[in-house]
Order: sequence, then structure tokens, then C-alpha cells
Amino acid sequence: MARRKKIYEGKAKILYEGPEPGTLVQYFKDDATAFNAEKRATVDGKGVLNNRLSEFFMTGLNTIGVPTHFIKRINMREQLIRSVEIIPLEVIVRNVAAGSMAKRLGLEEGAPLPRPIVEFSYKEDSLGDPLVPEEYIIAFGWASQQDLDDMVALALRVNDFLSGVMYGVGIKLVDFKIEIGRIYDGDFMRLVVADEISPDSCRLWDIKTGQKLDKDVFRRDLGNLTDAYTEVARRLGVLPTNV
Ligand code: C5P
Repeated sequence: MARRKKIYEGKAKILYEGPEPGTLVQYFKDDATAFNAEKRATVDGKGVLNNRLSEFFMTGLNTIGVPTHFIKRINMREQLIRSVEIIPLEVIVRNVAAGSMAKRLGLEEGAPLPRPIVEFSYKEDSLGDPLVPEEYIIAFGWASQQDLDDMVALALRVNDFLSGVMYGVGIKLVDFKIEIGRIYDGDFMRLVVADEISPDSCRLWDIKTGQKLDKDVFRRDLGNLTDAYTEVARRLGVLPTNV
């Protein structure tokens, strides 16, 4: 595909104009960042793995009727997606205490939670994506009460699907982040899962050993990130041939 106009460049991906109106090409970079980009590295092969893994998860969601922005993978690093109006929130689902929740509440990492918990952060790098209550979301007009209810329902369906798929290959889905966008179709508006679903945006622990197979390997210097993501892809049967 000929190189197209760049629409947006983020920390791990670039969006280009798509071949048809209403479409974009999403390119996965090898760049890894953590702690609001204070820590940075280039991790060989990460973009290829995340492109393939995000394709796998988004295709699975589309198949069970959870709408996503994903249309098709184009090549090793690019996928064709629907252009959406991103809601400026990070939607986080937690099954087990870890990361910022464990820190905030003084919980041990790995402590079970009474039920899956959905939380929202305001997507603003300059503020470090602060956690926001639903009251803020409605008051500032980032989403309506109906959108919020639909976002929680969507996030919990994604959690059920991802938890099951990962459990099947011996991996516990500790938590994850998704982004949600709006697609307008005439008078109708639909919420769809957007951005990516990959080990960059999930916590994944081996059920038997507790080994971390996600971006915490990079955040906490626990080993080789490509090896961890390759293991996830291998177990799911989607290992790219030339990472
Ligand atoms: O850091 P925290 O514990 O809040 O992260 C919860 C989940 O959301 C983790 O799986 C993390 O990888 C993901 N996350 C993300 N992008 C962010 C913040 C968190 O993918 N900006």
C-alpha cells in the first residue's frame, strides 16, 4: 500500500489516512514507553507482535458480536480500521489487584477482587491520565450517562471474552485498558472498541508460575519484552513468522 497522509502519531502507533472514506491505517511501531513516556526504548519486533495479537483479539470480539474498529490486517505492521471519534477516557477493567490500584489502596499485587471493577482515566498525557469518577465524566460532557452504562457493559463483555481466551492458554488476565470510540451511521451512533488490545495494554500472568508476560516486563526491567510477547502469541497460535 502506498504511504498515505499521516493523521496522528502516538507513543506506540501511527494513524494514516485510509484507502476509503471512514477508514484509517493503523501502523504499530517498535517503540515502548512507560511512566507517561519517562522511560523509552525500541523493542525489536514488538510492533509486529502487537499488530498480530490485536488482530486476533479484535477479530474474536467482532465474531461474538462485540463491535470493534478493526477491519483487517494489511501486512506485518499495519491494519485497516474504521475511523472513530475517540472518547477521551481510558477504560480499565481489573480482575486482580495490581499496578496503580494496588499502590493507591495499599493492596498486595495479586490480591483477588470481589468482582471485576471498571474504572476510568481521563486521557491526557500532560496530566498523567488521572483516574476520574463517573460524576466528572458526565459533568464535563465527555460521555452521557447512557454512553457510560454502555461503556461499562462493553468493557465487561471484553473482559469475559479475553479472560476466557487467556485462561484457555494458561494465562490469567489481571487487568487491561481499552479505548472506546463512536461511529456515526446516519442518525445512529454506535460505541466500538478502538485502539489496540495487546500485552502493551493488559497484565497477563502465567497461571502456574506467575511469570509476567506483559509490558510490566519493560516497566520493571524483568527481562526481554519480545520474548514475553512471543510466548503469548505462541500460546494463542498466532506467532508471526518473521519477528
Ligand atoms: O497502571 P495501572 O495499574 O492503572 O494499569 C491498569 C491496566 O491498564 C494495565 O494493564 C496497563 O497496562 C493498562 N494501561 C494502559 N495504558 C495506560 C494506563 C494503563 O494500557 N495509559
